[in-house]
Amino acid sequence: MFALAYSVPVPVHLIRHPVAQDALVALRDRTTRPSHFRRLAHRISLVLAMEAVRELPTTAVRVDTPLEPADGYALTADIVVVPVLRAGLGMVEAVLELLPHARVGHIGLQRDEQTAIASQYYAKLPPDLSRSTALIVDPMLATGGSAVSAITVLQRAGAQDIRLICIVAAPEGVAAVEAAHPGVHVFTPAIDRGLNAHRFILPGLGDFGDRLYGTV
Ligand code: PRP
Ligand code: URA
Repeated sequence: MFALAYSVPVPVHLIRHPVAQDALVALRDRTTRPSHFRRLAHRISLVLAMEAVRELPTTAVRVDTPLEPADGYALTADIVVVPVLRAGLGMVEAVLELLPHARVGHIGLQRDEQTAIASQYYAKLPPDLSRSTALIVDPMLATGGSAVSAITVLQRAGAQDIRLICIVAAPEGVAAVEAAHPGVHVFTPAIDRGLNAHRFILPGLGDFGDRLYGTV
């Protein structure tokens, strides 16, 4: 068991899908090399994104099959996927594989190595976000500083339906998002034990960006 550092209920969706859990344990493994790490990040992101858009509205449509008309449902929601640079880049292609019409924004945030406080160095978002579903992809939710900043940037740009997809969360990060942005839903396969003195998640998987790109 871990101590819950946040109140209940909190809009956190714990994704227990076996494919996600299988990929997660391999991501955690310190012997996993960057080439395999990238494939696993893609695979787990597919599952998480699938869950994050489970409740999206669809529109009734009719098409002609080669034999006769058929009724069905099309996904017409405007979706914007927003990777938080740099580690979120390892998740964005999976979301675009599921949702090829999604628009893409980018937010660049970098944690200071001493203080773990994130500062923004880049932001480029598509226009007219007020009726969009914005999916932030950032694999690690540690102190929550980066996620809170990214959500704030999106809200200032007009986004109202904001969902955060991450691969490992710490209770502290969940609590920070809940306190600053209680309406934001978080999708994660794991809430770990906590943070170490350097604000890395325990047990976590280390520095996601470094392991993704081999910059350790
Ligand atoms: C990592 C990670 C998150 C952030 C999480 O990024 O990808 O964005 O830390 O930590 P927090 O919840 O305490 O803010 P980092 O700043 O190391 O940059 P990188 O993606 O360029 O490696
Ligand atoms: N960023 C990472 O990549 N890993 C952590 O454990 C915390 C922040």
